[in-house]
Amino acid sequence: METAPAIPGELLSRLAQFGRLHILDTTTSTNDYAFGLAPAREPAIVVTRHQTRGRGRFRRRWFADDGSLLFSLLLFSAPGSPELAALTQLAGLALCLAVERVTGQKAQIRWPNDIILDNKKLAGILCETRRDAVVVGVGLNVNQTAFPQSLNDAGSLRQATDRAWDRFILLDAFLVEFRLWLDRARKGDMQACLKAIKDRSAILLRRVEVRSFLRRSVGTVIDLDSDGRLVLRLDSGRLVLLSAGQVRRLR
Ligand code: BTN
Repeated sequence: METAPAIPGELLSRLAQFGRLHILDTTTSTNDYAFGLAPAREPAIVVTRHQTRGRGRFRRRWFADDGSLLFSLLLFSAPGSPELAALTQLAGLALCLAVERVTGQKAQIRWPNDIILDNKKLAGILCETRRDAVVVGVGLNVNQTAFPQSLNDAGSLRQATDRAWDRFILLDAFLVEFRLWLDRARKGDMQACLKAIKDRSAILLRRVEVRSFLRRSVGTVIDLDSDGRLVLRLDSGRLVLLSAGQVRRLR
């Protein structure tokens, strides 16, 4: 990842419009670093080149290398604010739109927190809250040419397009989109947000398997609700609302 002086000043000042910018060489996890900044009560962006304990959902380790874009946003929202429930989806939407704007590639959201392109996982999002501090952590595979064999589900923008991309331009595009959609959600226009999220869904109206700690459900995704939940019609015809799980598309 480029160090601060290599980033054009204009781009740096645009990034800093979102909050105080922290560009690190290494940290444990940008999500943890961002929570450490919460007492200052100021929105922030934390970007790092390496993470020693980067994590994903279900406490899984998050793979990253020199091709990754790793960052977290720190923001503040009163507990119970309407946009909170859909924050992962809003971040996913912003990421898809940013990727499309910069690279022309049409990525999709695989509920709840994966971004996929050409059936490969391009990015993961980990939103966490502690009191009114909210951290949105993103790991985007940008310039990798290969992944460890154990990650056969992963893909990068470089693999999809055959060229390298500037990570800070992608970050800038993400911040522009994220601010726009977060503002819409905060102003109460969840319907517009939901429509855009559904338009980008990789699983709406598809037959899927959803695995969570306690159960496995198979059915057709018939909707996403304003609380970020999946509405699944089980094969029995019964409707269930799911707020977490690992989704696999079935044929
Ligand atoms: C997932 O797919 O399970 C979510 C992965 C989120 C990874 C990012 S990398 C930057 C930020 N810091 C972390 O420790 N995790 C998130």
